[in-house]
Amino acid sequence: MNGSRLEVMNHVEKYVVKKLPKFLRPIDQNWQPADFLPDARDISFFDEVRNLQERAKELAYDFWAVLIGDTITEEALPTYESWLAGMEGVNQQERSGWTQWIRGWTAEENRHGDLLNKYLYLSGRVDMKQMEISTQYLLNDGFDIGTAADPYRNFIYTSFQEQATLISHMRVGAIAKKQDNPELAKICAKIAADEGRHAHAYQSFVTKIMEVDPNEMMLAFSDMMRKKIVMPAHYLRELGGELGATFTHFSDAAQRIGVYTANDYVDILESLLKIWSIDHVPDLNEAGEKARDYLMKLPDRLRRVSERLKIPEHQYEFSWIGI
Ligand SMILES: [Fe+2]
Ligand SMILES: [Fe+2]
Repeated sequence: MNGSRLEVMNHVEKYVVKKLPKFLRPIDQNWQPADFLPDARDISFFDEVRNLQERAKELAYDFWAVLIGDTITEEALPTYESWLAGMEGVNQQERSGWTQWIRGWTAEENRHGDLLNKYLYLSGRVDMKQMEISTQYLLNDGFDIGTAADPYRNFIYTSFQEQATLISHMRVGAIAKKQDNPELAKICAKIAADEGRHAHAYQSFVTKIMEVDPNEMMLAFSDMMRKKIVMPAHYLRELGGELGATFTHFSDAAQRIGVYTANDYVDILESLLKIWSIDHVPDLNEAGEKARDYLMKLPDRLRRVSERLKIPEHQYEFSWIGI
């Protein structure tokens, strides 16, 4: 990494140390998966599970595809943690700053896959073994999201991605609520709230970097958008499938039920342009100005493309869904 990026990372690290108590919730007061699931020690456990399974019957096929795909994405957390920890400018010998943020973020995220996995197991609608095979594949396959070990590109990716997961968990929760499934709605809302807080943290890292290294940050932003933000589960597959073969089907199901669409992609981009006041960033050189121009024009271009997109109607048969 060039010296100035390292200097910037060290500079922003001081801000992270100060803000950690805001970006992460104290563990002792934080929610845990057990707060939202029947307690197997209770005499009422089997009745509660039966009720949970009855309510789960109301949920549609595409809904399950999305919820399972989301869970597998959450369960591939070791990939994301090792990617963050391998970012240049992170010193894993230290117990503060970037390292503590990454550990704390991982520790909060770990509850998401855990809670969703247990819900899916109890629901009685899921072929757990097939889902577990996909999870092991995804962890084994990793991801290729075009950031390399560059923290600037990494924070663009995470700023975008955490916002995307906030939207999708929120929408899944809203559908569950409509289908008279308040316990699942609550689960999704709790997870979405974490994602929102994390999105805010990553976005503030970019704001801080933009203040001291605007040209390089702008170039990183435009580079990531040119490459497109790919989803972390883009290599998703099932038993016997090729690398990434299941991802399109998962993403089609999400589009069909309106959980995450091409329009959401553009909305997130637009919100990031606003949050970072891209049109007002001062002190840009020629390359920085060009990158800004590209970014400012991008939402309109993408909007035109997304208007022409047709949502595929074909309902693929996932091995995961055991209805
Ligand atoms: Fe998550
Ligand atoms: Fe997240």
